[in-house]
Amino acid sequence: MAKHDLDPNYLDPNYEPVVNHSDNTPFHQVLAARMQRRTVMKGSVGAALASVMGLGLAACGSDDDASPATSGNVATTDLGFKAVATSSANEVVVPEGYSSEAFLPWGTPITGSYPAYRADGTNTGADQEQQVGMHHDGMHFFPIDQKAGGNSSTEGLLVMNHEYINQGALHANGPTSAADNGGFRPADEVRKEVAAHGVSVVHIKRDSSGKWDVVFGSPFNRRITGNTEMDIRGPVRGYSKLITKYSPDATETRGTLNNCSMGPTPWGTYLTAEENWHGYFANGDVTQPREQIRHGVGSSSRYDWELADSGDDQYVRFNVSTIGATAADDYRNEANTYGYMVEIDPFTPESKPQKRTALGRFGHEGVIFAPVKEGQPVVCYSGDDSRFEYIYKFVSSKPYYAATAGGYLLDEGTLYVAQFNDDGSGDWLPLDLENADFKARVDAALGTTVGDVAFSGFENQADVLLNSRLAADIAGATTMDRPEWGAVDPNSGQVYFTLTNNSNRGKPGFEGVNAANPNELNNTGHIIRWSEEGNDHSATSFDWDIFVFAGEQGTETVVDGEVIVSLTDDNIFNSPDGLWFDYNGRLWIQTDGSDAAPYQNNMMLAANPETREIKRFFVGPQGCEVTGVVSTPDVKTLFVNIQHPDGNWPDASDPRPRDATVIVTRDDGGVIGA
Ligand code: FEO
Ligand code: CA
Ligand code: CA
Repeated sequence: MAKHDLDPNYLDPNYEPVVNHSDNTPFHQVLAARMQRRTVMKGSVGAALASVMGLGLAACGSDDDASPATSGNVATTDLGFKAVATSSANEVVVPEGYSSEAFLPWGTPITGSYPAYRADGTNTGADQEQQVGMHHDGMHFFPIDQKAGGNSSTEGLLVMNHEYINQGALHANGPTSAADNGGFRPADEVRKEVAAHGVSVVHIKRDSSGKWDVVFGSPFNRRITGNTEMDIRGPVRGYSKLITKYSPDATETRGTLNNCSMGPTPWGTYLTAEENWHGYFANGDVTQPREQIRHGVGSSSRYDWELADSGDDQYVRFNVSTIGATAADDYRNEANTYGYMVEIDPFTPESKPQKRTALGRFGHEGVIFAPVKEGQPVVCYSGDDSRFEYIYKFVSSKPYYAATAGGYLLDEGTLYVAQFNDDGSGDWLPLDLENADFKARVDAALGTTVGDVAFSGFENQADVLLNSRLAADIAGATTMDRPEWGAVDPNSGQVYFTLTNNSNRGKPGFEGVNAANPNELNNTGHIIRWSEEGNDHSATSFDWDIFVFAGEQGTETVVDGEVIVSLTDDNIFNSPDGLWFDYNGRLWIQTDGSDAAPYQNNMMLAANPETREIKRFFVGPQGCEVTGVVSTPDVKTLFVNIQHPDGNWPDASDPRPRDATVIVTRDDGGVIGA
């Protein structure tokens, strides 16, 4: 196990440990490296723009005069800008006629006494708790009047995740290692690191000159960190495997960590995803429980927070070894309180975040909700970003009604995992002990070794959800090439997911290709999409195809023998990660991959989902990944996050790189991308 790796790129792009050693190989037919089947397009254009944001159709953006072609209420998804070239410059590149500006860099004061950012790194842990965190990732813009049915494009709550940290930049002289400090880390360094994680809720407003700024003193401004008190909700609440010294009744925990992507809910809250949370815990026991093995918890933690020299309980908890007489005397179960989607209500600053366990526990990259319909279940999708992991779907038991909708809808329902069949069909496999097929597979697996785990059964449904990966192995799900973000096309209802890469696919000792992940040693990734049966998101079957294969110039995506996409200088890319449909139906693709030639710096591209035309729109500064994108409802202000830049960006005079949001606008005030 790598010891105390302080590389800010520790997670990128291939850190996710391969911990799925199960033998899920449902497909024996090895396809050539390109799909050879008819593209299935279901659903009618224009069916589903409404409720993209829990807003009515009128709230959604539409193309202005610059792009006159529209079809009924639905804007075309043509790409009206000139593609930008690849770039290795330490700056943001946007198309001609567009401008960009860095906003809300790490350290921007947003709450409390608004402590100013200090470029010498001497801000304290307490300061960081009142400032924007590091490593900006998924984000969403909530119009300030959304609760009242409005759709402001000039004022709102920008809510964003802070996935992890650059320890070297965070502290004045870099981190003090335990090894250099008598075996302990200085407590205020730990406090600052914990506080640089989590989520920022920032009330922002655009002035008459078009400039966005923080609303100073707004009660909505808030930091949620790796130490904020949270409730456990859903079927896992109260389960004995979550008992800790902090919560002997297994109903509460502290903090959310490694928050990657997110999903706005149809009722105006924000779900933040806990992705590579395993790295924050240390377990010195000889044997680990399956709840840790399947996620790669190691004998030492990434930042050694459990070694804080203050001995505070809030840091000691990251040591998940068995120390006390019972689970209520130590933190052996603390890691079982992580791995969830966490609901935050940005419009209720005093609200306690809620960990929604019915959506499963794994390396959640993010979540994407299907459009809601009155009286129908709520449906959302979530990928598990590790090599050979899965894509999941949650379908609520209770129906959605706009007037009464809330987080309770996420506490009861069925968690499914995806099986992609080689004929282009797919099935959603329920992870539910009351389902006869799943129960039969569980019974058949008893006493066998599933992956690295000697399988002894599940105590109850809470145990199934706590061990979602193991349950999915048993169900026979299809192993994927690192599922990252998902997005639902507001026009067609099709669901898209990025499969960022999988350098181990087909290597000796690892699983071979399957139809949905058809490339051996898949270093550049692809984007898959599917249509639910009858365009009903709660359906249990679907049809899928591959939208595009990423790669170098000439990389082809072939459908029925016809080359539909052949990548050129205008659109080569690798390792698709962030993915978002804007309110007009353009697809935005962000990358987190190799920044060597020919790709150069990571980037964002726009795609027309109907024609598969793809153009590079944005290139980030050196060393970064481009992750997190959202616009105002009118799609005239675009927010794009830059994570882990490695040069002196955005301020060349500042010795520290600062993660930041980039605001992109069109110089003529028009719709972005049109
Ligand atoms: Fe946090 Fe999978 O990217
Ligand atoms: Ca990501
Ligand atoms: Ca990634």
